[in-house]
Amino acid sequence: MTEWKRSHKCGDLNKEDKGSNVVLVGWAARVRDHGGVVFISLRDRWGVTQVVVNPDNKDYNTAKSLHMESVIGVKGRVALRPEGQINKNMKTGEIEVIADEIVVLNPADPLPLMIAEESDASEELRLTYRYLDLRRPQMQKNIILRHKAAQIVRRFFDDNEFLEIETPYLMKSTPEGARDYLVPSRNHPGKFYALPQSPQTYKQILMIASFDRYFQIVRCFRDEDLRADRQPEFTQIDVEMSFIDENDIIDVVERLMQRLFKEAINKDLKIPFPRIDYNTAMEQYGSDAPDIRFDLKLDDLSDLVRGSDFGIFKSTIEAGGAVKGIYVPEMEGISRKNTDEITEFVSKYGAKGVITIQKREGEIVSPVKKYVGQELLQQIWNSFEAKESGVVFIIAAGKQVCNVSLGALRKKIAKDLDLIPQNEFALTWVVDFPLFEYDEDEGRFVAMHHPFTSPKLEDIDKLGSEPEKVMARAYDLVLNGTEIAGGSIRNYRSDVQEKLFEALGMDEETIKYKFGFLVEALKYGAPPHGGIAFGFDRLIAIMAGEDSIRNVIPFPKTTSAYSLMDGAPSEVDENQLKELGIMAAKQE
Ligand code: AMO
Repeated sequence: MTEWKRSHKCGDLNKEDKGSNVVLVGWAARVRDHGGVVFISLRDRWGVTQVVVNPDNKDYNTAKSLHMESVIGVKGRVALRPEGQINKNMKTGEIEVIADEIVVLNPADPLPLMIAEESDASEELRLTYRYLDLRRPQMQKNIILRHKAAQIVRRFFDDNEFLEIETPYLMKSTPEGARDYLVPSRNHPGKFYALPQSPQTYKQILMIASFDRYFQIVRCFRDEDLRADRQPEFTQIDVEMSFIDENDIIDVVERLMQRLFKEAINKDLKIPFPRIDYNTAMEQYGSDAPDIRFDLKLDDLSDLVRGSDFGIFKSTIEAGGAVKGIYVPEMEGISRKNTDEITEFVSKYGAKGVITIQKREGEIVSPVKKYVGQELLQQIWNSFEAKESGVVFIIAAGKQVCNVSLGALRKKIAKDLDLIPQNEFALTWVVDFPLFEYDEDEGRFVAMHHPFTSPKLEDIDKLGSEPEKVMARAYDLVLNGTEIAGGSIRNYRSDVQEKLFEALGMDEETIKYKFGFLVEALKYGAPPHGGIAFGFDRLIAIMAGEDSIRNVIPFPKTTSAYSLMDGAPSEVDENQLKELGIMAAKQE
């Protein structure tokens, strides 16, 4: 093999190397026979070099019969490409290597999927043969960007006196929000560790241990329903600081983002990022992660339609709901069929229907014109300052359903009509969250972020009496309509933390069993502290222009949390279970 040690990588050579003797190794990405001369595109991580094999070459037949993606070695001489064959888009586009010798280091079987720039293979096939999929230039680019970003993040935090400290992967199960992944203990039969949903409690303990300024690029595990931007194991950039307030965290994060975008993808971000309060985000964008790259804001029509006899408006308003709408000037008109599609779309968010208004030849047109009346429809139309064209969509429903369904429709329409500027990165902070939200299924208040978030100081007294009115010292960072980070200032006093647990419906015993260690630690000199955590996969996906985080994770799981390549999860040996004192219940 020493004889096949490369002299250059496949992206190295250019016209300055003319006449040099070189040894290259890599994958035969493409083999073309051009009237007797064989051209091989030789690829490695760094690029592609064109190799030319002439008919008088002793290895001509080897070259001609090469299977794609075989691993080969080439010895040869660098030559300038003939005039018409120069490719300015390629780093090595001005040269080719005239082969003297070609050897197949390992032939490849016929491939189950093509290694092309744009893959048309199904995702199932791509994940099954991930090592082939990862050879595609786009995936190589994504994984390299991920590496680069991680290094920039590390340098930034090191420059700013943060310490990278590891926290355990085997911890106590204290689920809040998502389900835990459990790991059985052999030494303690019947007991389980949990894989961390995040290092939240550990990073707080590190602050108590006086490691002011911590960060970690860390794996987290959550057994929750998956979507394009959720994986059962994902990576966080986790951060915590002591003796700070909200603005200090926000400042550090803005500087981090600015440096990361500049150094990784050469994008200039303007700081400070805008801040929007949670309530306004919900009212105007119908989302706690507003995409501010396009307009189409939600308008509240409740006051305008109050007093209308139209049944849907009337009953909604009387029940304390809202009638809201969006105006889409870019839409030329809407057919019955489109309206049906949209009705079906918003029904997923709980809305019962959608009312449209448009103008045809200067006249208001709406399926509900007969019931609502020309005058009110015209007033609604005018309230949007709508011109002669465009479509107004109205939803009448409970406040939350109304906001969320219109918010989703706003996004869908912007996407369908191509109203979202590409290659733009719009960051915004969402602040002033309520501390709790009411969980209908559980019949109790749950923490909107997590139970360690501090209430706003002026609201502490309301913890027991009016939990719904307590505001949180929490903040989320949103990039192009995706929540990429979330954090808060914490409860550093044990009495406040205990009150919070109580407001969440925990009794003394439960608090002690689940979080006794933290409550106790808070009693031995806990500094005021707070932090934030980024979803690193989401951040990289957006920077890379990918729709799914699966495209920036080397070995992701499917939406049913299955690993197609190695077949995890799998059944295990009876003996393994026995040792752990576990019996698997028979599955139907
Ligand atoms: P949170 O639960 O908001 O906060 O998580 C922080 C960020 O992690 C990302 N994220 C995910 N990414 C991929 N797959 C998932 N299943 C997934 N779940 C979350 C999101 C989210 O904004 N300990 C707190 C942080 C803190 O308060 O400091 C926490 O974990 O981008």
